[in-house]
Amino acid sequence: MSTTGNTRIAPAGGKLGVLIPGIGAVSTTFMAGVEAVKRGLGQPIGSLTQLGTVRLGKRTEGRSPKIKDFVPLANLEDLVFGGWDIFNDTAYESAVHAAVLESALLEKVREPLSAIKPMRAVFDPEYVRRLNGPNVKTDGSKMDKAEMLMEDIRQFRESSGAERLVMIWCGSTEVFHKPVAVHQNLKDFECGLQKNDPDIAPSQIYAYAALKSGVPYANGAPNLTTDTPALIELARDRQVPICGKDFKTGQTFMKTLVAPGLKARMLGMSGWFSTNILGNRDGEVLEDPGSFKSKEETKLSVLQQILQPELYPMLYKDLYHAVRINYYPPRGDAKEGWDNIDIFGWLGYPMQIKINFLCRDSILAAPLVLDLVLFLDLAQRSGMKGIQEWLSFYFKAPMTAPGLYPEHDVFIQLMKLKNTLRWMRGEDLITHLGLEYYD
Ligand SMILES: NC(=O)c1ccc[n+]([C@@H]2O[C@H](COP(=O)([O-])OP(=O)(O)OC[C@H]3O[C@@H](n4cnc5c(N)ncnc54)[C@H](O)[C@@H]3O)[C@@H](O)[C@H]2O)c1
Repeated sequence: MSTTGNTRIAPAGGKLGVLIPGIGAVSTTFMAGVEAVKRGLGQPIGSLTQLGTVRLGKRTEGRSPKIKDFVPLANLEDLVFGGWDIFNDTAYESAVHAAVLESALLEKVREPLSAIKPMRAVFDPEYVRRLNGPNVKTDGSKMDKAEMLMEDIRQFRESSGAERLVMIWCGSTEVFHKPVAVHQNLKDFECGLQKNDPDIAPSQIYAYAALKSGVPYANGAPNLTTDTPALIELARDRQVPICGKDFKTGQTFMKTLVAPGLKARMLGMSGWFSTNILGNRDGEVLEDPGSFKSKEETKLSVLQQILQPELYPMLYKDLYHAVRINYYPPRGDAKEGWDNIDIFGWLGYPMQIKINFLCRDSILAAPLVLDLVLFLDLAQRSGMKGIQEWLSFYFKAPMTAPGLYPEHDVFIQLMKLKNTLRWMRGEDLITHLGLEYYD
């Protein structure tokens, strides 16, 4: 298959600044990890950009370069970090508090992490009800706060010497909100910022500030954020890539591995019950029903889309799907997830599958943050703007063009991602047809 590859990719020279709202468990595990890898203290396991390869041409050609050698990505040595949080703790102190990484390792990267002091956050306790902290911007309208964030971005660009920037939300999960009138176009949204419209969430103020500043934005939480016509319009106007939402790490990752396989074999499913215990600050925030509702929405949407009950009513129309998250402090970041799956086969005979995943939330999320930062920067340098559907691979609820259902199957997502890289470099797309081997 021939391609019309976009081969004009600007080089990745100079420093890449990573701006992160939310200096918590995920972001500090990511930053500490990058610093550790740079010093040879660990390997970037779980990162497609660092370890993955991409096959080019026919299977007989033996061409499978590393992704990072195939497309020009920023080097880890060139990443510089900054961010905002409602607490004053430096990234080092926050990493100690999160207790994801062992103190022996944290001590070795103490210096760079201690230098990351969170800027004052834009925060609204109506959107995250379980937290309150002192390090917040208090004065002015929501528009004033957006301008203060733009000033923060400008100053960070200057002080860090970064040539390019990317923003990735690693802050808490906000209360569930549906888009309303103020989100329908950019003009109304800007008017809403000036009038302090209560339907504009803090995460949307950060996203607005980023996009206005020409900075790509990724959304790691299930927050509405850029999933609105107004901010999609802004991203396209400013020629900036965006993607989201909600990192696909633990239980939902498992779901998107298992469900497509069962469906591929035309096995039926009557129920899928998922429950989790976790004890980190994220778990504490998710105890609030409003924040849990945001998470529940992104977690529940996955199975419907994968199983397509409208096409296969005999197999999936009566599926009962439930997701629970329980805050259980003793576990900290080491989440435990249980899945009970009730399936049925030939002649309707029932069977069960049980999955017990003893995972580590932030250890799974950190490499996703790295990949998203590097790929969004690549997208920006390749002239790609607006929603980046090829990055669906990383999200529970991938953003798509209006009216288009998202692809949740992780292997379709990976194929889409790699084909996008091939397309960028003008290589043939791989269809897996393979008839040419038998001519
Ligand atoms: N770890 C995972 O596997 C995973 C998977 C999917 C999504 N997520 C999401 O990633 C986000 C981060 O998770 P975490 O475990 O690091 O949580 P965390 O609670 O450790 O960190 C979040 C930080 O965001 C800060 N914060 C809240 N509102 C803010 C605001 N308006 N501005 C600036 N800072 C703000 C909090 O003070 C906190 O320090 C959460 O929304 C979580 O749901 C995590």
